[in-house]
Amino acid sequence: MKPALNPLLGRLAAYLQEKANAQRETAARSGKPLYDFGIGDPREPTPEFIRKALREAVSEVSQYPSISGMPALRRAVAAYLSRRFSLSLNPDTEILPCAGAKEALFHLPMIALNPARPLCWYPDPAYPVYERAILFAQGTARTYPLKAERAFLSDLDAISPEQWRQTSIWFDCYPHNPTGAGAPRSHHERLLSLAREHGFVVVCDEPYVDLYVGPPPHSALQIGSRENLIAIHSLSKRSGMTGYRSGFIAGDPALIATLREARANFGVASQGFVQAAAIAAWNDDAHVEERRKVFADKRAVLLAHLRKLGLAVGGDGAFYLWVRVPPGFTSDSYAARLAEANILVVAGNSFGPSGEGFIRLAMVPTLSDCKAAVEAWPV
Ligand SMILES: Cc1ncc(COP(=O)(O)O)c(C=O)c1O
Repeated sequence: MKPALNPLLGRLAAYLQEKANAQRETAARSGKPLYDFGIGDPREPTPEFIRKALREAVSEVSQYPSISGMPALRRAVAAYLSRRFSLSLNPDTEILPCAGAKEALFHLPMIALNPARPLCWYPDPAYPVYERAILFAQGTARTYPLKAERAFLSDLDAISPEQWRQTSIWFDCYPHNPTGAGAPRSHHERLLSLAREHGFVVVCDEPYVDLYVGPPPHSALQIGSRENLIAIHSLSKRSGMTGYRSGFIAGDPALIATLREARANFGVASQGFVQAAAIAAWNDDAHVEERRKVFADKRAVLLAHLRKLGLAVGGDGAFYLWVRVPPGFTSDSYAARLAEANILVVAGNSFGPSGEGFIRLAMVPTLSDCKAAVEAWPV
């Protein structure tokens, strides 16, 4: 007799990245040039000073990293938060390292979900991990739609007081993947005031907060009291370190204390040498400025082309372009049409039903590949 396993696994669609990898392999077999705007994993090299910090920190003896991470890492994060957002966080009580945002987000409902208040909310469309984290923790997943006509901002008034009272967690993400939309401070003020009134945890996922083209976006950590708030940041996109797996969790000291204790059960601090590289990365802003410039150049090339085609593009945060498909196409059919020219994008509905009618381009190919993709674009 075979083991029954968790039936949830059979119900979940294949994870986005796995689907994209399969699509890339098929396109690569054609032998023609490939323009992969699928997964948000940029090709620019990780800055040499970060790689050097990692190499030099590989120690002779390997020991378990602590859940709280190196004090120097927490201090580097606090210094970054002070430079970037004029915040003063206590590195010992308000900051915890994590092995990338995905891990921190996935484990959060295991800790913050109270079965007496089963509702956990996440955006539609969204990065897929929120939903999966909720379902694996046996919460009741509820989406809130993000629509172009509301500038992809959640409508907090659409949730009833009774629903708020049943809520354990609200996942929030601005600058938003996949739409690139930002949120005004008033959004976070209202959300946090609801969280304190009704007693739920707000998780603000902010891995794109340093990748902007206009004015720098705020962090939810800047909105007055941090009670009931957890913010999650990552070096993946900011510093070109997707493979290192490093980020941090910051916010309400009571929640941070609980997380520190609970996270010890699954042991997920980054390796010491990754923490050393992370210290170097958080201590430097110049390389982030250079990355913003690289993405801005790609954005200019792609935007000019998409506008010429008459396609509306939303959002100016993160490194995504959220593009409305031409009349007569669906998300899937336009993505398939582009795939015929070996231009790989993600169909908007892969991020949730409200993503129908859009495709997402991650500006990860090099600038010259972006220019070549524009030439290869089917009209
Ligand atoms: C919104 C969002 N949150 C979190 C992550 C995961 O980041 P990390 O590489 O730090 O796990 C991603 C990655 O694409 C993302 O888009």
